Amino acid sequence: MSDLIESEKRVLFQNYGRQPIVLVRGKGTRVWDDEDRSYLDFVGGLAVNVLGHAHPVVAAAIAEQAQTLIHTSNLYYTEPMVELAQILVDNSTLDRVLFVNSGAEAIEGAIKLARRWGHDERSGAHGIISFNDGFHGRTFGALAATGTLRYREPFEPMPPGFVHVPWNDLGAVKAATDERTVAVLAEPIQGEGGVNMPDDGFLQGLQAWCRERNLLLILDEIQTGNGRTGTLFAYEQYGLDPDIVCLAKGLAGGVPIGAVLAKEAIAKHLVPGDHGTTFGAGPLATAAGVATMRQILDEQLPAKAARASDRLVSRLRAIEDRSPMVTGVRGMGLLLAVSLAEDCSAEIVTACRERGLLANNVRPNAVRFMPPLNVSDDEIDEACAILEDAVQAIVAARAAP
Ligand SMILES: Cc1ncc(COP(=O)(O)O)c(C=O)c1O
Repeated sequence: MSDLIESEKRVLFQNYGRQPIVLVRGKGTRVWDDEDRSYLDFVGGLAVNVLGHAHPVVAAAIAEQAQTLIHTSNLYYTEPMVELAQILVDNSTLDRVLFVNSGAEAIEGAIKLARRWGHDERSGAHGIISFNDGFHGRTFGALAATGTLRYREPFEPMPPGFVHVPWNDLGAVKAATDERTVAVLAEPIQGEGGVNMPDDGFLQGLQAWCRERNLLLILDEIQTGNGRTGTLFAYEQYGLDPDIVCLAKGLAGGVPIGAVLAKEAIAKHLVPGDHGTTFGAGPLATAAGVATMRQILDEQLPAKAARASDRLVSRLRAIEDRSPMVTGVRGMGLLLAVSLAEDCSAEIVTACRERGLLANNVRPNAVRFMPPLNVSDDEIDEACAILEDAVQAIVAARAAP
C-alpha cells in the first residue's frame, strides 16, 4: 500500500487530500482495500454509486455495450442515447436532453443554453444569479457560478455576468435582478456547501420570482437527482417546474456522464453548431445510464431511499441525543449530514475509517453520508454503531488528562 501511495505522490497532481487507503474492489455498499479490510461505503463515490458497487445489471450492460459499440461520435444515431433521453423525458417535467460528460459540463451547457435563450428572447440578457455556498463545478462558467470565494479567487478573473447572493434570501435575489438577468441557478439542497436545506417556501418563492420577471429557473440536481432525496428529482419534493435541470453523478451508476434537461421552448434555441462534445451521448455511458435508470425505476429505489433515510435519520438523532458532540441532523433522503459541536469532522472521518466506515467531512463541523439508494437496514445500523463509537472515542480523547 505505502509504495502505491508514494508513487501517487510522485506522478499525480497533488490537488486532492486522499484518504490513506487503496481501494481494490466493491460489492453493494461495501468496498475492500488492498489489505482485504472491508469498509461500509457511506460516501458512495460522492453521491455517484446510487446502486452500490459492482451492480450486476449495470456491469452486464457495460460489458455488453463494450463488446458491441463503445463510441461513435455525435455524427450518428445510436439506440442507448435515445433510450436514456426517453426515460428522462418520460419521468420528468422536461422535454429534451443534451448529454455531456460531467456535472461541470452540464452546468456549462445550461449556462450557454440560458444565454442563447436570453440572446434570442430577452434582448441579450445574460446575467446569472446563484448562491453563496452553492457548488456547480470547476470549469470556468461553473466556477463563476460557484458561491465559494476560495474556489474562485486563485483563478480570477472569472467570466463576467455572475452574481452571488445569500442562500435562502429571496429579497437578495430580487435586489440582484436587473434587466440583464437571464436566470437563477440553484441546487435544491446545497450538497458540497454542507447539506444546506432550503427554508420553507424559498424555492417556490424563487420560481414565482423567475416567472414574474421572465427569468429561467435552472436547478442543479447533479447531487440531489437520480432518486437521492426520495423522489427521482428533488424538485418534485418542492412542487417545482424548473426550466432547466442539470444531472450527472448517479445517472449512469458510476460511468462518467452529465445531462442538461430543458423545456422545449428553451431547448429549441440551441441549433446545430451552437454546442457539442465528442464523448457526450456515447453508447457506453448512455447504456450504463439506461441500465441504472431502469433499475432505479423498476425497483422503486427513490421510495426505498426515503424509507432508508427515516431509519438513518432516527439512528443519527439517537446519537445526537446521547452525545453532546453531535448537535444536529440535516438533509433529505440519503443526502444527510450531522453537525458537530467542534471543527473535528476530519478526526471523526479518520476514526470512522479505522473502524470500517467511509464518511465525508463536508465541512469542518459537519460529516456527510450519501450511501447507495439500496442500502440495507443492517448496513445503516452498523454504520451508525461505528459512527457513535468513533465520536465517543474522540470525546474520550478530549476528556483525557
Ligand atoms: C451540485 C453539484 N454541481 C456540480 C458538480 C460538479 O460535478 P463534476 O464534479 O462532475 O464536474 C458537483 C460535484 O460535486 C455538485 O455536487
